[in-house]
Formats: sequence, C-alpha cells, structure tokens
Amino acid sequence: MTDKPRRDANALWGGRFAGGHAEIMERINASIDFDRRLHAEDIAGSRAHCNMLVTQGILTADDGHAILKGLDQVEAEIAAGTFSYSAAREDIHMHVEARLAEIIGEPAGRLHTARSRNDQVATDFRIWVRGALDELTAGLAELQRALLSQAEAHVDAVMPGFTHLQSAQPVTFGHHMMAYVEMFARDAGRAADCRRRMNECPLGAAALAGTSFPIDREATSKALGFDRPMANSMDAVASRDFAIEYLATAAICATHLSRLAEEIVNWSSAQFGFVRLSDAFSTGSSIMPQKRNPDAAELIRAKAGRVIGDLNALLIVMKGLPMTYSKDMQEDKEPVFEAADTMALTLAAMAGMVRDMGVNRDAMAAAAGAGFSTATDLADWLVRAAGLPFRQAHHVTGRLVALAEQRGCDLADLSLDDMTGVEPAITSDVFDVLGVGNSVRSRTSHGGTAPSRVRQAIAAAKARLA
Ligand code: ARG
Repeated sequence: MTDKPRRDANALWGGRFAGGHAEIMERINASIDFDRRLHAEDIAGSRAHCNMLVTQGILTADDGHAILKGLDQVEAEIAAGTFSYSAAREDIHMHVEARLAEIIGEPAGRLHTARSRNDQVATDFRIWVRGALDELTAGLAELQRALLSQAEAHVDAVMPGFTHLQSAQPVTFGHHMMAYVEMFARDAGRAADCRRRMNECPLGAAALAGTSFPIDREATSKALGFDRPMANSMDAVASRDFAIEYLATAAICATHLSRLAEEIVNWSSAQFGFVRLSDAFSTGSSIMPQKRNPDAAELIRAKAGRVIGDLNALLIVMKGLPMTYSKDMQEDKEPVFEAADTMALTLAAMAGMVRDMGVNRDAMAAAAGAGFSTATDLADWLVRAAGLPFRQAHHVTGRLVALAEQRGCDLADLSLDDMTGVEPAITSDVFDVLGVGNSVRSRTSHGGTAPSRVRQAIAAAKARLA
C-alpha cells in the first residue's frame, strides 16, 4: 500500500522536515488515544516546571504567568470535553503544548526550555503509576475488610481443610478467610515497597544528559510530591522498572484473587454447598431455571490472565533496549492502564461478592467430619496420651482408619473395644479429640486454626488496616 505524504510538516518538531507524515506513519506513531489519560499529570508537570523556570530566572514572570493561565484553560477544556484531540499531534504532551500556543501565543514556546518529552513522559507516567498504586492499596483494604467481616462472623465454623483438594484436617472458615487476608496484606506491602522505590522525579533529566540551564530539580521534585530527583539523567529517561514492578505487584494480586475466585466457584456449587452468593452477584441461565452461576468469580479468575499478560508484555518491550529512550517505550502505557482498570474492577467485585456471601455452616461442618479428617488428631493423641512414638502412632491410626472404612463408619463411631483391639493403650479419653470441633479447638499453636488464635489474627489484621 502506498500512502500519500501529508502536506504540512509537524509544527512542534518539523523544522528540518520538508513534508508531512504518511497517514500510516501518523497512525503507528500516535499515542494520544491512550496517553490522554495522562493529561492531569502532564499539566501538573508543566506547572511545576514553569514555576521552577521563573524562580530560577530562566523564564520571565510575565511569560510564566501567561503559561500558567493558559494551562488552566487547557485543563478546563479537557474537563469540559471541549478539548480536541488529533493523531497529527501525536501525544498528550504535544496536545497540551500546541493548544497552549493557540491560547497564549509565543510564550508557550518557552515552556519546553530545559525539558524534553523524554523526562516529561517519564515524570507523567511515574505520577500516574503512583496513583494506581494508591488505588490498588485502597482496593486491597476494602477487600480485606470484607474478608475480615466473614472471618469474624464464622471464626468457629468448621470446614474441611484441603491438601491436593482432598479433605485433610478440619479448619475453621474464619481461618480460611484469614489466609487470604494475609495474602492481600502482602500484596499491599508490595505496593508500598514499589511506591517507596519509584517515588523519585525524572524531570530535569531533559532528553538524556541533563541541561546547561540552571534548573532546580529539588524544587520540581518537591512540587510534584516526589521524595527526591532521580540521581542519573540517563536512568531517569530510560527506566521503566517502576511500571514493571507495579505490574508484577498487580499480577501477584490478580493471582491471589483468582485462587479465591476458584474457591468461591467450588464452594457455591451444589456439590459443596458451602456458600451462597447473593442475587446481586449471581447470574441465571437462559435455559436451566435452577441455576445460580458465579459469573463474577469466574471472570475474576480469568482476568488474572490479562494482568499476567500485561506484565509479560512490558518485560518483553523493555528487555533489549539500549540506553536511553527508545520509542518502543511508548508501548509501556497500555499494559499498565489495562492492568489498573482490571485490578480496580476485580478487587471491587471480589469485595462485594465476599461481603454479601451467605455461609452454610451446616454443610461445611458435615463435610468437615467426612474423610477421616481427625486421623491426625488420633495419631497426636496416641503420642501425647499413650506415649507412642509418632511413627508408630501413625501406623496404628492407619489401621483404625482401615477398620472404620471396612465398617463404613467414622473414626468417632468405632467402639473402644475396636480401638483397644488395635492398640491396647487407647482409653475412652480418645473420643475427646475425635470430633471436628475438638480438633480445631486443639490447634492453638501460633498461626493455627483454633478459634482463640484466629480471633487474635483478626485483631492483628484490623490493627494493621486501621
Ligand atoms: N509519546 C512518547 C512516549 O510515550 C513521549 C516521548 C517521546 N519522545 C521522543 N523522543 N519521541 O514515549
């Protein structure tokens, strides 16, 4: 396909060009369709830069005043939806500057003194990602609160604890909920670490080498809420590990969400019947009237794929780039935007679903007792009360399980005679540890499932969130 050249050279950088872009060039080059989301950050960066230039005597006060007034108008037009976007102006930085020139004329051209789009975009994007990290942290807090309210309500509700999705030992629903609170608290911790590391300001790195103008990088850094200016101008314009780290944090969190979603899908099935999703978070089937489908949980489970893909995409964009800026890096934004949108949606949906979820304690208790789930309690009792070495206790318990299986009954339903026939040291006290309630109450070790421990864990998590 041959594309006719456009007539006009670009107004902002077209000095050395005789003709304009081919239309297809304009289309591949432009990022305005997505980077318009950086408008507030871009204007904030320009204000900080302008103020600094005036303070440093690089710009006159009059020019600075005109620029700030013009930026106010640009901001108002964007807010009102009257700002016009066009691929010919490439990106948000050129849109703001070109419109500023239309509004205030010549002084607009002085704003870009001691600045490049390279440090500008790095600054804008860091501010944006910082906001996304704050949003992620808020979403995680909301979800943890929902999990905590379920944990508190069902701190002593017994359910099967699984390994290999085989019933292993009884636990409480509260303990199970708190396992996710811990995971999501670590996700929030990762967000905080990432935010701390990324909160340094690239502005003033200029194109890549710094500038000969007497700028004050401390001032712009402070004005934009950064902790300090970045130390190396090349690193400042070339690095996107802050965005990769954000995506890694989001991807790990999405993985946690996906695991919880999978459990909710299982638990809400007729076969488990552990939870009932509210009408607000269930969908019906167009053909099978009895169905209540956990669509939100399934979608949360699936959307982890997007976020993991976003992390992959940016790692691959960055992996072979030489110092410093390359246009490849314009491809950093869409994965981050997509991940941020996905995280906001899935965290809110999960929080709502968990908060509303009805818990069927009877179904969980019935399942908790099945599958010889207190066999370990029996073995532990043989060690503690009858003085058997654990290996021998394990063997004796195995024989008792086999016996119960043969009889088609539970361990607690075996008679004392059955028991002493296998191990003479057993006494009737053994029946105290065989119920699932006894089992969970006995697991009082640090981090264990005993309701007394789970209450402590809930209190600690609440204090952490407050
Ligand atoms: N739209 C560009 C990006 O997002 C801005 C930086 C352009 N810099 C340049 N030297 N062409 O990466």
